Amino acid sequence: MHDAVASMRETVLRELNRKMAEECQCTLRKSATQAVPGDGSVLAEILFVGEAPGKNEDLQGTPFVGAAGKFLEEMFRSIGLSREDVYITNIVKYRPPDNRDPHPEEIADCVPWLREQIILIDPVVIVTLGRHAMNHFFPGMKISEAHGRPFRKAFPDIGTRVFVPLYHPAAALYNGNMRETLKSDFLRVPKVLETTKRNQKNPKERFPETYPR
Ligand code: URA
Repeated sequence: MHDAVASMRETVLRELNRKMAEECQCTLRKSATQAVPGDGSVLAEILFVGEAPGKNEDLQGTPFVGAAGKFLEEMFRSIGLSREDVYITNIVKYRPPDNRDPHPEEIADCVPWLREQIILIDPVVIVTLGRHAMNHFFPGMKISEAHGRPFRKAFPDIGTRVFVPLYHPAAALYNGNMRETLKSDFLRVPKVLETTKRNQKNPKERFPETYPR
């Protein structure tokens, strides 16, 4: 059963990634080397969503392969996981020139792919990396207040989802305090995963939609 689901999802994901590379309307496609669709398991319980591919990602076609990616892998190991156990992607599927922030219209062109990825993989928990990925799902939320905390929110297109916003590994890499905060926030993810799975069977604890103001 597991194998059948995996192989069906892999086929659909391959087709989705092909379309992303050939049909995405995003203007970033013109300056980028290639699409960076995502990496990992189609059966992942945790989906990591970053902002946009950088230089190394653009060259290799794989998300989080540079210094931030190495740090992310170190944090996967800290919770007993590897890249192969999770799925990693970005809001925007093409590298913005000079690593600038993606523009709203570029995000709008790329998010339909992310939406399809979320529906297909159907992760238990979505971990957003950095302010931009978090604000896509939670406009106006402050990363300094939200980091490391679980939230639950209903969307018309992707259904009700549980999120843990984290600091971006690239931002935390060279900032000692943020680095330690990110590492300790990361250790909370398995607990959120287990609680969410338990809640699916027997809803007891509810995560809030936002933090108390
Ligand atoms: N930063 C991101 O947000 N995504 C990547 O894939 C790499 C660096």
